[in-house]
Amino acid sequence: MRLRTLCLFALVLPVCAVEARAQGEVTFNNQVVRIFQQHCQTCHRPGNIAPFSLVTYQDAQIHALQIRSAVITGEMPPWKPVNAHGVFEGERSLTEPEIQTISAWVGAGAPEGNPNDLPEPIRFPETWSAGTPDMVIQPASSFPLLAGADDIYRCFPNIGLVCSRI
Ligand code: HEC
Repeated sequence: MRLRTLCLFALVLPVCAVEARAQGEVTFNNQVVRIFQQHCQTCHRPGNIAPFSLVTYQDAQIHALQIRSAVITGEMPPWKPVNAHGVFEGERSLTEPEIQTISAWVGAGAPEGNPNDLPEPIRFPETWSAGTPDMVIQPASSFPLLAGADDIYRCFPNIGLVCSRI
């Protein structure tokens, strides 16, 4: 019995090694940027709400370690619903294989890869992503936000709105 197990190992291991080589190294250009396009760039692109862009290799490489820990802990992409409590449209969380791909990429030193593997960049609409709003309101003057403050609510009483979260 033990001999048979050993033989099985002897047969299987080279096959695994060949498969790993065939799949090749995970690079930014061949796999990681596709995950960023699908799950991160809606916010992580110039002019949007996230503090840095994840569009180019240079953007992403300097944040590699932070990215790995943010996706492993589930901090990013932000997605509050707990698993197994319903199916939500537009779910943002990463799959386990996607997390492993990012993790393997960072573990390998965040290689850039072959430029020919790069997908077409995503063209995000320059306009409002959810359609033109019925009304855009602004406070009468600018005001400071305190570092570390929780959500801040401002009221716009003179235009008939009750309260607006900003
Ligand atoms: C819905 C918008 C949104 C999406 C989608 C999103 N992020 Fe973020 N991300 C943010 C914002 C906003 C911050 C800043 C949070 C803060 O400062 O508290 C942030 C911060 C981060 C940080 C810094 C975290 C830290 O520890 O300081 C990392 C790393 C990051 N994002 C990676 C990613 C990756 C990788 C993805 C995709 C897999 C992603 N994010 C998707 C909005 C987003």
